[in-house]
Amino acid sequence: MPGKRIPLATPTMHSEEMAYIQEAFDRNWIAPLGFNCDNFELETAAYLSEDNKYPCHALCLASGTSALHLAVKLAGVKHGDIVLCSDMTFSATVNPVSYEGGVQVFVDSERDTWNMDPDSLEKAFEKYPQAKAVMLAHLYGTPAKMDEIIEICNRHGAVLIEDAAEALASEYKGKKCGLFGKFGVLSFNGNKLITTSGGGMLLTDNEPDRKKALFWATQARENAPWYQHEEIGYNYRMSNVVAGIGRGQLKHVEEHRDLKEQIYNRYRDAFGDIPVTMNPYTKEAKPNFWLSCITVDPISDVDPMHVMRVLAVHNIESRPIWKPMHMQPVFAGNDFVSANEKYVDEDIFARGLCLPSDIKMTGEEQKYVIDIIKSCF
Ligand SMILES: Cc1ncc(COP(=O)(O)O)c(C=O)c1O
Repeated sequence: MPGKRIPLATPTMHSEEMAYIQEAFDRNWIAPLGFNCDNFELETAAYLSEDNKYPCHALCLASGTSALHLAVKLAGVKHGDIVLCSDMTFSATVNPVSYEGGVQVFVDSERDTWNMDPDSLEKAFEKYPQAKAVMLAHLYGTPAKMDEIIEICNRHGAVLIEDAAEALASEYKGKKCGLFGKFGVLSFNGNKLITTSGGGMLLTDNEPDRKKALFWATQARENAPWYQHEEIGYNYRMSNVVAGIGRGQLKHVEEHRDLKEQIYNRYRDAFGDIPVTMNPYTKEAKPNFWLSCITVDPISDVDPMHVMRVLAVHNIESRPIWKPMHMQPVFAGNDFVSANEKYVDEDIFARGLCLPSDIKMTGEEQKYVIDIIKSCF
């Protein structure tokens, strides 16, 4: 075991992916569109919506980031519009606001899920009543406090965009993440719960919005015999080959989720006697446990970066908590709103660490990781 690299999260392939890829080759359908794309969309929508219990129209795209960009466009964000954004997330959540000339205002997190704090969101709307949209991420696959967030967005007439890139298969009150916003986004990046090597999906509750996004994603080609363009378009479609990987992976999505939960529970049970706390979730939520994380309790003076360095010496990958957007130099000019006396985001970032959560990690390997972490305290 010592010496063997233990990663944070890597792709886990099965046998079905190759069969779908082979079919694409056999039928010479290597183009950006095709039967794997169509079926991947239908199968994902059926999975998320539990066979049409909720409306769900899916569009597979080149990346989660391109899906977020099209969601921002569909939300009608234009030059100078304010978008209230999750602060503690990966930058891809918020960059697409800039693509459209919008202005991000970052909103602090709460401690129960590490996601956007409803009280801070309310305060942000008091300061920016004209905010056009809210960009909400479910960090590390843990569902945010959706009832409160949706109520606030509705009351202020703002469009909710749900970045569920890390939260495929996560549920809030029995409904899948990605279906709560006017627009939802998934990522199939290599480190996600399931992967297509690279890819994403846009989710909407209606076909006209899906069609509009498809139009933009395919170079905004008007219906004419020649190339006719009346709007700016993008080349954002997923290829039929990689959509085949997605179809094969989707068959294993629940199995991947369950393995992630076992990893989380093993960490939680093992850490009962050291001063750390796992990334929390509420009783309404069923997370996908995409990444298991800890925060070092305030009574301890152990620096999480020390733990990260010790793990690295043993060839074990860990990573700091996503650095809040309001602390990023690129967003130095953007506002940050918090209803908390002490900024929650900054505190979690200072005390937190993401731990290996690869579903191929064996129980023995995880025990090795746990023992090294414990030796730091
Ligand atoms: C929260 C979040 N949003 C968006 C993205 C972007 O997705 P993609 O890499 O597929 O563009 C990622 C991850 O990559 C993410 O973690």
